[in-house]
Amino acid sequence: MSQQAISNRHGEQDLIGRLKEAQAKFGHVSEEVMAELARSLDIPINDVYGVASFYSFLSTQPLGRNIIRICQSLPCYLKYGQTIMESVAQEIGIIPGETTADGKFSFQLTNCIGLCDRAPAMMINYDSHVDLTPKKIAQILGTYK
Ligand code: FES
Repeated sequence: MSQQAISNRHGEQDLIGRLKEAQAKFGHVSEEVMAELARSLDIPINDVYGVASFYSFLSTQPLGRNIIRICQSLPCYLKYGQTIMESVAQEIGIIPGETTADGKFSFQLTNCIGLCDRAPAMMINYDSHVDLTPKKIAQILGTYK
């Protein structure tokens, strides 16, 4: 690995770390934060935006207090993941990519979250929920309302 590659890798890790800090502190990565990071790291703002919008655990838009992330990868999909998505949508009245009007929930789809052996799976904030069924969805979401 070249010195430049190592330097770039460290720069990227630094950027991701700072983006995660902003996400944790403000609930999303705003344009102002991205501009400040671009200035302080001396990189184009498009690069900052590219990283911030690539990772599903970062958001460039304000999100609800509880972020539901349903796995849409194949093992979960094959175990009726679509039914789980529909159950969540019905329960909270929004579709993936939206936030409820009261700001309680944001609903997102994500790729594998490492719980394939207990598919279908989802995360709400940092909590894992596995072996999901439509009946469990109402019960689980009720604990976050
Ligand atoms: S495929 Fe859904 S958790 Fe891995």
